[in-house]
Order: sequence, then C-alpha cells, then structure tokens
Amino acid sequence: MNSPTITTFQFHSAGEVIFGVNCLRSLEDVTARLKTKRLFVITDKTIAALELMDYFRGVLSEAGLLVHVFDGAEPEPSLDSIHRSIKIGRQFSPDTILGFGGGSVMDTAKLTATALQHGGNLRQYVGENHIPGPVLPLICIPTTAGTGSEVSQAAVFTDVENQVKVSVLSNFLRPNAAIVDPLLTIPCPPTVTADSGMDALCHAIEAYTAIPYPRYPLPNGEKSVYQGKNPFADLFAEKAIRLIGKSLVEAVTNGNNLDARTDMALAATMGGLAFSNAGVALVHAMEYPLGGFVHCSHGRGNGMLLEHVMRYNLSTNEQAFAQIAEWLGEKTTGLGVAEAAQLSIKSVSRLRENVGMPARLRDLGVNEEMIPVMAEKAASITRLMRVNPRSPQVQEILEIYKTAY
Ligand SMILES: NC(=O)c1ccc[n+]([C@@H]2O[C@H](COP(=O)([O-])OP(=O)(O)OC[C@H]3O[C@@H](n4cnc5c(N)ncnc54)[C@H](O)[C@@H]3O)[C@@H](O)[C@H]2O)c1
Ligand SMILES: [Zn+2]
Repeated sequence: MNSPTITTFQFHSAGEVIFGVNCLRSLEDVTARLKTKRLFVITDKTIAALELMDYFRGVLSEAGLLVHVFDGAEPEPSLDSIHRSIKIGRQFSPDTILGFGGGSVMDTAKLTATALQHGGNLRQYVGENHIPGPVLPLICIPTTAGTGSEVSQAAVFTDVENQVKVSVLSNFLRPNAAIVDPLLTIPCPPTVTADSGMDALCHAIEAYTAIPYPRYPLPNGEKSVYQGKNPFADLFAEKAIRLIGKSLVEAVTNGNNLDARTDMALAATMGGLAFSNAGVALVHAMEYPLGGFVHCSHGRGNGMLLEHVMRYNLSTNEQAFAQIAEWLGEKTTGLGVAEAAQLSIKSVSRLRENVGMPARLRDLGVNEEMIPVMAEKAASITRLMRVNPRSPQVQEILEIYKTAY
C-alpha cells in the first residue's frame, strides 16, 4: 500500500555533539557525565599505529578510567570481526563503549554495544527497529570526515556470504556523545579523504532530494527510522553541501590544511544529521551490492554512482538540484531552473574527478555478469527505495549500473 501516512516529522541526533579542534580533550567530561568506570575502546590497526593514538592515549589516561583497547576492527567490517570485538568486550565487561576511528570502527562499536546489552546473534537486529531497548552507553569519535555514524542511527556490516552490505537501524544506536575533533582527520590519506568526503556528499544530496516527508510512502502500521525530506534535514544538507563544495578538493590535495579539514569534519557530521533523519536512497541501495561484490570502499562506490542517480532523479525536483549546483559553487545566475539543475550533475562529476576517483564501475572490478544480480539486490532494499523520489523498476536500476559501467 502506497498511501502517505506521515504528516509530521521528528529530528534525532546523538545525545550531545561536541565539535572543534582539540575537543578530544572533553572526553574526560563526557565520561564523567556518563559515570564511566570501565571503558572498552574499539579502533583498528591502522589508527592504532598512528601518532594520533598517543594524543588519544594521553587524553584517556587523564580521565583516570580502567580502559581496554581492542584494535581489531576491520574496514567495511565483516560479522566475524565484529564478533571478535564482542567476545573481547564481554571478557572485559565494560560499562561504556567508545569507537575511535572511521565509520567501520564506529559501527563495530555500535554493534558491540548492542550485543553486550541485548546479546544474541547480530543478524536478528538487521533492518529497522529490531533493537529492543537502549544499548550500552556509547561514545563515538570519528577519525574520517564522511559517514556521520557519530550521530546516526545506523550500523553497517558486510554480509560476506550473501555479498551485500547490510544495516542495523535503530534510534538506540545514536551515540550518547559524538566528539568531533578535526585534528584527528589530518593523517587521513588522500584516498580515504576523497572516498569518505564523497560519502558525506551523497548523504547530503540524497537527504535533500529525498521524497518529501508528507508523501513518504510508509505502509500503515509500519515504522521507519527515515521520514523523507524535511526542513531540519534540509538545513544540515545545505550547509554540508556548501562546505564540501568549498573544501573537499583542498582537504584531499593538502591534507594538512586544518581549515579544510574542519570544514569537512563539520560537513560529515551535518550530512549524518541530514541523512539519518530524512534518509538515504537509490545511491546507497545500489552501493550495497556493489560493495558486497567488489569490496570497494562505501564512499568510492557511492561517489561513482551519485552523478548517475542524480540524472535519473533530476526531473522530480529540478529546483532542488539547481540549488545543489549553486551550493557546490556553480554560477547559476541567469540560467533557467532546468539548466541550473543539469549543472549539479556536471559539478558532482567534476568533483569526483578532482578528488581522483575513477569514472567507471569496471575500474572497480565490476563485470557485466554482476550487473543484473546487483540490480535485483538493490531493488529489494525497500527501506531505501521508498526514500527515493522516483520508484525505479529493476530494469531501470540495471540501466543506471550499465551507464556507470
Ligand atoms: N553508520 C552509519 O551511519 C554509516 C554511514 C555511512 C557509511 N557507513 C559505513 O562506514 C564504513 C566506511 O567508513 P569510513 O569511510 O569512515 O572509512 P573506514 O572506517 O572504513 O576507514 C577507511 C580506512 O582509513 C583508515 N583511517 C581512518 N581514519 C584514519 C586517519 N585519521 N588517518 C589515517 N587513516 C585512517 C582506516 O584504518 C581504514 O583503513 C563502511 O562500512 C560504511 O558502510 C556507516
Ligand atoms: Zn553512506
């Protein structure tokens, strides 16, 4: 049933968001507020080997807590890697979980906090609203500028058996605190900066061009964590798009530029606030099987699909796409809406090129036989399809993959 049922919207965030250069130092205050005694820190081996780990360890030791660090989180984490985190976490028996890393680490932390509170097989939580209550107190500290996981209600893992990325979605997964310190992103290499930055752009653009909340097609009796385009999400999306247009290329090409890193850190968190309330749509639905098949980073898959999905969605809201063009820095004065809207696609395509991302899916290792299977899988992700402003048939998704191929 496709009748619109939502005429109100809500806004959710992390319990608190702390932002700014050196704000990592506020960790002590945060753990004091949470009455933390035993802190289980999750990170990955790359981050654990960086100099910034010394900065982090210094802050941790000042907080005077009993700390156990697990550095075995994986990029685009498999279930096995998350189960290892859960096993070690259980032995330590923490009262608070902290994710210190990119989206992969923060999502591992979220799922560890879930399992330590509610137990069970993680697959039982996949989908929307299957977590029965609050998870263990959770602090997220991003070291990439991309996913917005520090404020979002999502945790994503790779279902290796079924070759697809899957999500657990619940407002119980919003961290108690997000500590966003742009300094932590300085060591991000150009590829990670580019990929995660393009993910943030996808979040903002998909939220801003989503189906409007009064028309969100939620079947009667069903609840969703997404609700479609709405004025609060729009605010964050706009600011994120402007910041990315201004600073992503600079952050990629001159990683030590703290102003550019600060813009991108802000954009990523704002993108997270936009998408985790409005929703993400067809780009993400198409990335999940793509990532499952060729194991590219989430941001790269999204970044390469974005311009093609924008072209498919363009006619649904040319005004919104024209706005996006302007926010990305295009000169739109004197242009008609349709022309300005077209510029948004060119702009995203140029940005992708300027951050060094390839144009064609074949460059990621996709082959033609994969495309029909990926199209079927993408089409089956109903919760993302219904956020998209146009409802594509499998054949249309297949055509979009082919154009991108
Ligand atoms: N939960 C959400 O709301 C949400 C939203 C979007 C994406 N995701 C998921 O997040 C994951 C991607 O996260 P990501 O883009 O942040 O990348 P990531 O966490 O996978 O990290 C990518 C690589 O960069 C390294 N790295 C991270 N920070 C670094 C730093 N400061 N310096 C040097 N190297 C650093 C990592 O060790 C890793 O090797 C995917 O699994 C994706 O599906 C989650
Ligand atoms: Zn994403």
